[in-house]
Amino acid sequence: MDRLRIVGGRRLEGAVTISGAKNAALPQIAAALLSPYPVELTNLPDVTDVENMLGVVRLHGAEVTRSAHSATIDAGAAASRETSYDTVRRMRATVLVLAPLLARFGHARVSLPGGCAIGARPVDMHVAALAALGASIAIENGLIVASTPQGLTGTRIVLSSPSVGATETAMMAATAAKGETEILNAAREPEVADLAACLNAMGARIEGAGTHRILIGGTTSWRPARHDIIPDRIEAGTYAVAAAITGGQLELTNARLEHMASVVQVLEAAGASVWPGDRGLIVSRGGQLKAIDITTEPYPGFPTDLQAQFMALMCRADGASLVRETIFENRFMHVPELMRLGANIKLQGTMALVRGGAPMKGAQVMATDLRASVSLVLAALVCEGETTINRVYHLDRGYEQLDRKLRLCGADIERVRA
Ligand code: UD1
Repeated sequence: MDRLRIVGGRRLEGAVTISGAKNAALPQIAAALLSPYPVELTNLPDVTDVENMLGVVRLHGAEVTRSAHSATIDAGAAASRETSYDTVRRMRATVLVLAPLLARFGHARVSLPGGCAIGARPVDMHVAALAALGASIAIENGLIVASTPQGLTGTRIVLSSPSVGATETAMMAATAAKGETEILNAAREPEVADLAACLNAMGARIEGAGTHRILIGGTTSWRPARHDIIPDRIEAGTYAVAAAITGGQLELTNARLEHMASVVQVLEAAGASVWPGDRGLIVSRGGQLKAIDITTEPYPGFPTDLQAQFMALMCRADGASLVRETIFENRFMHVPELMRLGANIKLQGTMALVRGGAPMKGAQVMATDLRASVSLVLAALVCEGETTINRVYHLDRGYEQLDRKLRLCGADIERVRA
């Protein structure tokens, strides 16, 4: 397994190109199964989660033509096959194929995702949304077995909380339903709005995505489509922390301010400056880092996917910072590893108290999930001496060429091939 070796103490300066959003790409690849016409996705990030999702649609008979940052998915000859536990276990977002398969073929069998490293993450809201549209659903031998003997019928779906995945499932299924569907308490994440834009390019009629209320006119006439994926706001936020933690200045090419309001607010409170440049956002930090409190919330609140990275930043700030995680119950796996680097963090349930300023020294650490691993990379950039981060495959799931991008702006980082 590859490792990353990082020697801390370099100030980062330069430009980083932000890739397409992984979390926008995954549902759009799944959505291509809805249509018998080709869907071309551009600005596709070159990360292993995307490769895995392309593998999943291939498994269902879609033909995928790939180039560096795009893919054309032609599901003209696709069929609904069983999606095994092994596939879903490797990447939970695989469950997003359930709705398109069901809507197009009238039946689908997708393994239930089990518990995963960052919590239980059930799919009850996905299932409830499909049932509301008229699907009959049973759980058999660990599989979600869904069918629509009478086809799907538009309805009002009220989500019990604004789940990103459940909103996407409901939206995809409703495009193929008879009549109108209204989704209330929908997730407002930019990735949901981007999926709607992609579906609309494919022939759907969706309004209101990006707000709490989404309207979908059903029974779509599909057509060939091309869609450019939005830039990754989580990757942009990660490099913003890299600039702030090292007291450097980075231009985040392609990053969009309008997707990052809550993140920019916290960066500024921590003592960084953020301003729009010609090609994206510029983030820099000159003075001392200040303590900050964050609570993770659904968009437009502070994203849980940036909690671990900001905790690394808090370790270098003056004073005590508080983190409250409200989205996932078990998303503090980076804490013991940050403590191995010298951080002073106290965990209590869903809260973490970070006392900043403790001296941090390089060590061997282990990545446990995507965002936890990248927080270790950020911390290593300011540790004294060398840090080795094991299990880099977690990083490769969601960060395109992380080591190269950091090296180009001055980090002392090297990938050690296994
Ligand atoms: C997506 C993102 C993930 C991000 C998360 C929250 C993708 C591929 N992944 O995940 O990176 O951290 O949004 O911003 O886009 N829940 C239920 N029942 C359900 C569905 C969800 O109880 O049927 C719970 C989850 O356990 C969690 C919360 O709702 O506690 C939010 O989950 P959700 O918004 O659905 O996250 P994902 O779509 O899985």
